[in-house]
Amino acid sequence: MKKLSLYHTPLNGTIEVPGDKSISHRAVMFGSLANGVTQIEHFLPGEDCLSTISCFRKMGIDIVQSHENVSVTGAGWNGIQEPKEVLDVGNSGTTARLLLGILAGLPNHSCLIGDESIGRRPMRRVTEPLREMGAKIDGRQDGQYTPISIRGGGLKGMHYQSPIASAQVKSAILLAGLNGIGETTVTEPHQSRDHTERMLLAFGAVVETNENTVSVKGGQSLTATSIYVPGDISSAAFFLVAGAITPESNITLKNVGINPTRTGVIDVLQQMGASISITNHQEKNFEPFADLHISTSNLKGIEISGSLIPRLIDEIPIIALLATQAEGTTIIKDASELKVKETNRIDTVVNELSKLGASIEATEDGMIIHGGATLSGNTVNSYGDHRIGMMLSIASFITEGIVEVENTEAIAVSYPTFFDDIQSLTKR
Ligand code: S3P
Repeated sequence: MKKLSLYHTPLNGTIEVPGDKSISHRAVMFGSLANGVTQIEHFLPGEDCLSTISCFRKMGIDIVQSHENVSVTGAGWNGIQEPKEVLDVGNSGTTARLLLGILAGLPNHSCLIGDESIGRRPMRRVTEPLREMGAKIDGRQDGQYTPISIRGGGLKGMHYQSPIASAQVKSAILLAGLNGIGETTVTEPHQSRDHTERMLLAFGAVVETNENTVSVKGGQSLTATSIYVPGDISSAAFFLVAGAITPESNITLKNVGINPTRTGVIDVLQQMGASISITNHQEKNFEPFADLHISTSNLKGIEISGSLIPRLIDEIPIIALLATQAEGTTIIKDASELKVKETNRIDTVVNELSKLGASIEATEDGMIIHGGATLSGNTVNSYGDHRIGMMLSIASFITEGIVEVENTEAIAVSYPTFFDDIQSLTKR
């Protein structure tokens, strides 16, 4: 539990947010599958990515991690051993779904479990197409929920028309496809984040992308490389919003990933009228990054929908808080995927922000937020969801009185140094 009383405390200065969660997971996974030693720099030592490391260690991979530096020694696909223990993915949906894709292509038996939240998250979105490719999968409610056991190998390539824009689904199928016979193609309704495609190129694979369709050929091996992980824009988003809504603030966030499949939050800030600028553009291993600058802004409400949604899906909780401070109404739609995240984020965002006095209502596929609210202190709860915990903590910058946030431990899933960074930006 954390008691926060930060009302109108200006945020000033420069920080570097921790490494990108999606890219950190993939660097460990692909390094484990590659031939040779992969060095990872600015790795995110959050609980989710540590779960990925622990799973691959149980499959015989030598991984040495020292804070943000990781070295992974892979011996190709055949270097993955059949695990003697159950693979525990903790709270991490990305670990669960991408791992299922990898395991589907290997002639081993494995069993996956996770925490209580993982036990509620839908897995049939990956187990069904992986079964179609030839993997033998069993699990609670016919493979919908963990525990899940899988016996892989002997896969055939397929063309999968995904009903949802999900990078986890796309990645699982493409990773299985690397071990299938023939070609594997995934088409999505809107493009989801493309870190798998970019990183596979860095590991020497051939991947073809055409708008919302991605293809790989089976029988490809990966070659070890060096990966620099840029700052996570999903973590930076909390401070972009804090800087925009708190008086007399001016913040620089260094080396933040600006992969266009992830920058929806920047588009939204710009459309709402925020003072945001981007400098010092760079690129390493096909991932662009830059420095982001934000200062206190006058904001107006907008509509957020369609192909923008997958480009900011993890930022919707903090965008909802941003919208409470805008002039006019913000409407978020086409976002029913929020219901199957670490919590049902339509419910948790609406319920917890309402407790602080926000004018916000849930809809079937999103929410409607009426701006211009003055928030007042109360006890709120993350319900074990890291992004809800961070959003409610940032709410204390615009809340008169004390915000008591319960279950803030969950924040370590993606941003272990979150409160240190708040302290560094608010010290005088
Ligand atoms: C992720 C994809 C997204 C995102 C999650 C990380 C990834 O999930 O919400 O935090 O690393 O591939 P979906 O694929 O379910 O949209």
